[in-house]
Amino acid sequence: MLTEPEIPLFNLVICISKALDLISPVLVNHHYQVAYIAYNLGVELGLETRQLNELAIAGAMHDVGALSLREKMNIMAFEMKNPHPHAFQGYHLLKMFEPFSELAAYVQYHHVPWDGGNGAAFQGRPVPLESQILHLADRTAVLLNRQTEVLGQVRRICERIEGKSGEVFMPRMVDAFRNLSKKEYFWLDAVNPHLDQILLQKLGTEGVKLNLERLLSFNQMICRIIDFRSHFTATHSGGVAAVAEELARLIGFSERDCRLMRIAGYLHDLGKLAVPTEILEKPAKLSEEEFNVIRCHTYHTYHILKDIAALDPINDWASHHHERLNGAGYPFHLEGDNLSLGARIMAVADVFTALTEDRPYRKGMAGETALAELQRMAENQALDHNIVSLLNLHLVEINALRIASQTASHAEYRQFDVIAKSYNGDQGNSSTRAI
Ligand SMILES: [Fe+2]
Ligand SMILES: [Fe+2]
Ligand SMILES: [Fe+2]
Repeated sequence: MLTEPEIPLFNLVICISKALDLISPVLVNHHYQVAYIAYNLGVELGLETRQLNELAIAGAMHDVGALSLREKMNIMAFEMKNPHPHAFQGYHLLKMFEPFSELAAYVQYHHVPWDGGNGAAFQGRPVPLESQILHLADRTAVLLNRQTEVLGQVRRICERIEGKSGEVFMPRMVDAFRNLSKKEYFWLDAVNPHLDQILLQKLGTEGVKLNLERLLSFNQMICRIIDFRSHFTATHSGGVAAVAEELARLIGFSERDCRLMRIAGYLHDLGKLAVPTEILEKPAKLSEEEFNVIRCHTYHTYHILKDIAALDPINDWASHHHERLNGAGYPFHLEGDNLSLGARIMAVADVFTALTEDRPYRKGMAGETALAELQRMAENQALDHNIVSLLNLHLVEINALRIASQTASHAEYRQFDVIAKSYNGDQGNSSTRAI
């Protein structure tokens, strides 16, 4: 069970960072690379430990606002058009977690070109030095060719970066990069498949640790990152979390475990970050291949979370929500006693929420109609009969909690969506020239 002292924030960030790059082999380790390069540029520039930690976290999450596969691929091209929407969306997601309010601003401006000094400000606001560092780190990472050995690439990459000094990158930053680029270990680390371990060795024990309340608010932000990728899923995990927490409370879980259950609800679809929004939003029937991509999501959730031992119960409850008591679930085919009480609660909460919530293509079922479906699944030994009976007994109050949670996250999503759409145009100075 979760024990004090608390979970290092950086370890959590490293897990989420991995999830952001699962969507395509082209992206693998991109966020780790940007975190690593930005951190080392920061060292070269003499930044303090606290700034370096913030920079590494910002690097590890810098493209969190790129929602679709198309957008993610666009930003992996060295020369890119209209680069700011994903950066601004990332800012709005990251600032939901109060300790990230400062580093969210680094992410917001991570594609602002230096433009002979004009890039010290953007749309009337100062651009932090950290954004300039992220910018250079990010563009260096996209220049790395994963197919060939790295030391033979150094000259090409340096020429590319130095050729943009003053125009795209701050000259002081390019000087720091030039010094860094002379060190072979830097490049070898950057392409090391175990770069996450290298980052954890440097930063894993330092920095902020999260107590239960902070862990809850961090994961509420992660929940929004998962859900807000599509209007189809915009309120789903928040609803599941509310239902699962209340079912756990009624079953007699301790208050602490109820909070953990809420976190597990927030995270249960974490692996969906690996599913392109193009699939999540496809109006037509999914092909077998697309359906298989979706079916992988709980497997991913499991592997993303398993590196943090303190999250074990959360991982169990979150990752097994598509397992069924009769063994007909996936991907582990756990059955009977091998399926923990928490995982059974999550399965009920997930199905109930999925059936009752509104989707853009259909209205949600009434609570009673959804319950009848759950009872049928309990009769087939897919869901736990006792938990479904408990839901039946407290249907009105549980459904009210679900609606309250989903109404609140819907309001947040509307705001996010309006902001996101407002950035999808030409953005002030130099935006179309930005790389
Ligand atoms: Fe970016
Ligand atoms: Fe990037
Ligand atoms: Fe779900």
